[in-house]
Amino acid sequence: MKWLSTVAALVPLAQAGLRFPCSTLTIQRLDPVVEPGRSPSAHVHHIVGGNAFNATMEGDVGARATCTTCQMAEDFSNYWTAHLYFKHPTNGSYHRVPVIPVQPLLGGSNGAQGGLTVYYTQFDLSRDNIQQQPITSFKPGFRMTVGSPTATEREHIGLSYQCLTGMNRGPLLANFPDGPCSGGIFTTHHFPPCWDGKNLDSPDHQSHMYNTVNTDYFNNAPPCPASHPVRVPQVTFEITWDTTKFNSMWPSGTPNPFVWSFEGNGYGTHGDYMFGWKGDALQRAMDKSECFYDGCGSITKQAMATANQCTVPDMIGEETDGWLSELPGMSMKV
Ligand SMILES: *[C@@H]1O[C@H](CO)[C@@H](O)[C@H](O)[C@H]1NC(C)=O
Ligand SMILES: *[C@@H]1O[C@H](CO)[C@@H](O)[C@H](O)[C@H]1NC(C)=O
Repeated sequence: MKWLSTVAALVPLAQAGLRFPCSTLTIQRLDPVVEPGRSPSAHVHHIVGGNAFNATMEGDVGARATCTTCQMAEDFSNYWTAHLYFKHPTNGSYHRVPVIPVQPLLGGSNGAQGGLTVYYTQFDLSRDNIQQQPITSFKPGFRMTVGSPTATEREHIGLSYQCLTGMNRGPLLANFPDGPCSGGIFTTHHFPPCWDGKNLDSPDHQSHMYNTVNTDYFNNAPPCPASHPVRVPQVTFEITWDTTKFNSMWPSGTPNPFVWSFEGNGYGTHGDYMFGWKGDALQRAMDKSECFYDGCGSITKQAMATANQCTVPDMIGEETDGWLSELPGMSMKV
């Protein structure tokens, strides 16, 4: 097991970007960034955010969507990752691992269902430094990914796992924990901070972005290079996968039985981002020092009970939960 670092306790701070929960929107095989128009896509995703989510997404998502599962009512972006599954060590059946809200949930976010916590940081976890380092919002149509399902080693420093025991998150790991975690498995996806300033996307969905971050956790990014000069918010997802009910089916001393929905290996952890903030709402938030946890006055929040009512149709119509003999889509793999 590779130990990356120990993590500081989470302390509430006043002047550092955005942090808010989004409930689960849908779990299905769609991927409008990597496989636009393909329905079903290759593997199952866990998706949060606005109801413009669809197999194909072009143009101004924030202008099209009418609701969002995120606490920030003007954020119609979509955020997704592969879904985690348990692969039974002796009979080989798969079961979807439930998602539970990241704890602690501060700022009146009680009632989030599943989902993930999103961060848009300007500097680090305790400061914004916006006088010296202004942050430019993404533009309508912008999208990006981080990580790759085919990775066989750690390709990006911001991708990690933690083994939860109670409220303790434990050290950051580059791959799945190698023993049962009594509080579940916590995954983090940090996206790159530098944009080329021109392209809303690129053929690999990554080369319009550049990563200058060379340390784990929420540290400020070193300056952006001339090729990618625009400093955008550092987007991060945190997810808690509730693995606890599978722990008794994991025989002591045997390999990690958790797999992503594309099987692969733990280094294949990846995330997708589709920008969809309404109008200039994200830029307004990034120009201020007031929006971490509960202090935000310039952008609108909604109750999670309202956010939870936002839905999209199941466009694939296949079983992704319960005990499955194979991962959805994997028998069609070419
Ligand atoms: C998704 O796209 C299809 C095909 O363009 C369209 O018929 C459908 O209304 C869209 N669904 C949503 C929820 O936007
Ligand atoms: C594998 O084990 C689980 C848990 O006991 C069970 O529910 C499932 O039906 C089994 N699968 C097969 C193919 O026997």
